[in-house]
Amino acid sequence: MEHPPTNVGSGVEVDITVKVNGEWVRQRVEARLSLADFLRQCCGATDVHVGCEQGKCGACTVLLDGLAVRGCLTLAAQADGAAVETVVGLTQAGRLTALQDAFLARNALQCGFCTPGMLVAAMTLLETGPCPDRAGIREAISGHYCRCTGYEAIVDAIAAAGEGNP
Ligand code: FES
Ligand code: FES
Repeated sequence: MEHPPTNVGSGVEVDITVKVNGEWVRQRVEARLSLADFLRQCCGATDVHVGCEQGKCGACTVLLDGLAVRGCLTLAAQADGAAVETVVGLTQAGRLTALQDAFLARNALQCGFCTPGMLVAAMTLLETGPCPDRAGIREAISGHYCRCTGYEAIVDAIAAAGEGNP
């Protein structure tokens, strides 16, 4: 029985140019390669963590032209011509320091697996305006799973940073 044609695994490749943490990267990649795998495998951005690969855990969250996206649900080809920032890139820009200090001070880092995505989500939340209450913070990070079950400490840290009190 014949199967329908598919590109998955067929080796279709595309040339992309992506600005990753301020540096332009030119690369030929498989059309099906995820942005998360591109960042980790082609750019050495191992601060991008991959958990579920289904858009559920949030560990792979990065900024694509300033918008938070799931790296596992975004194709590398979709980032062609765009700027991507991982948590390390954000750190180099100095924009996460207060959040990072708050996470450190309140023991919200724990194993660190969900931390990059949590920090990106928290930064985008705090950039949208005054820090919301704890319910609002919980809602904002509800798409991020923390397997260390450290949500209380993480909410504490985001609230503290939002109040300018890391
Ligand atoms: S690895 Fe992307 S959301 Fe879980
Ligand atoms: S800190 Fe370990 S998974 Fe969240």
